[in-house]
Amino acid sequence: MSIVRVDTPGGAYPIHVAAGRIDALAQSIPADVTAIALVTNPTVGAIYGERVEKALASTGKRVVRIDIPDGEEHKDWHTLNIIFDGLLRNKLDRKAMLVALGGGVVGDISGYAAASYMRGIRFVQVPTTLLAQVDSSVGGKTAINHPLGKNMIGAFYQPVAVDIDTDVLATLPAREISAGLAEVVKYGLIIDPEFFTWCEQNIQAMRALDAQAITYAIQRSCELKAYVVSQDERETGLRAILNLGHTFGHAIESGLGYGKWLHGEAVGCGMIQAAELSALTQGLPQSDVERVRAIVQNIGCPVTPPDLGMQRWLELMKVDKKTEGGQLRFVLLKAIGTACVVSVPSQALKQVLENAASAAHV
Ligand code: NAD
Ligand code: GLY
Repeated sequence: MSIVRVDTPGGAYPIHVAAGRIDALAQSIPADVTAIALVTNPTVGAIYGERVEKALASTGKRVVRIDIPDGEEHKDWHTLNIIFDGLLRNKLDRKAMLVALGGGVVGDISGYAAASYMRGIRFVQVPTTLLAQVDSSVGGKTAINHPLGKNMIGAFYQPVAVDIDTDVLATLPAREISAGLAEVVKYGLIIDPEFFTWCEQNIQAMRALDAQAITYAIQRSCELKAYVVSQDERETGLRAILNLGHTFGHAIESGLGYGKWLHGEAVGCGMIQAAELSALTQGLPQSDVERVRAIVQNIGCPVTPPDLGMQRWLELMKVDKKTEGGQLRFVLLKAIGTACVVSVPSQALKQVLENAASAAHV
């Protein structure tokens, strides 16, 4: 097992990465916990629910299971209330703990429930998608969506542990693996050019879930994310670079309706648009834009953005949390491995959106 440490003002905790880790979850439950609420969805629960309940019950504590509906379109107030109903009906107290078993949707919404139930109870992330293992379970961003914007209601709230079982990826659809790889590649692009090159050379091994390659990809991604959030937990500066591709990506997700494109797919395509904008405004060489396009294609994510219409793109992007005083800001690349957060001339942005419109109609 490898352990990556996260150290933020809001909490310090280990990320355990190991094959078969879900059977050892009892090790992440503090002794003074009074009861455990296992939050999952029917898809993940049907495959891993019983095993995880058994592992948690081996602590000798009461375990209650709360099922929430599967899907990004359910990451909302209604589902959050299902969790609160379950916690209250089962009379869970302030020393109860929540365990989030699932992808980023279960993790984000369970984390927000843990942050607000009785003003905060402890929780453990057990991410079961690649995207959740390399990104959403680490760093304490918790949230639900609002019809007017993605992840607009939430809190920074750190888990007490993240437990990553690399074996669970075996049951994940290939499309979800591709979406998770977009976030893996992102770390190379923003902060670690050697890791980006390694990703370029190991795409097929990662897509095939070769144990050594996928474990290294997860571990390195967690190390890089832990490094960033340990310096800037609440995104006052550096952490914003983790949002490469997200301003375009979030517009794609909400413009098409949550769930139509996977989050990682939208981010992957958005990274190409961010690279195009970087070429126009930051001097990123065109050959590097093509490297970004090629890797997004090779990991199996879409490379052609949808034609949302210029006005709609701009409206949707303005809802981005990086917007300050109505001024859009983007994470762009000065080089592969060097990110910056900047405002751009509107003409350059319009050109990238016009590229999107013409690509969509080829
Ligand atoms: P998801 O949670 O919707 O999971 C994808 C699908 O895979 C679901 O149907 C799920 O039930 C299923 N699934 C999960 N694990 C499985 C397994 N092992 N085997 C079979 N099926 C499995 O999607 P996601 O990509 O994991 O997460 C996307 C969400 O994460 C978005 O809401 C996004 O906003 C959020 N996110 C949050 C952060 C953060 O920092 N908090 C970062 C990135 C993304
Ligand atoms: N996924 C972006 C962040 O955690 O900040």
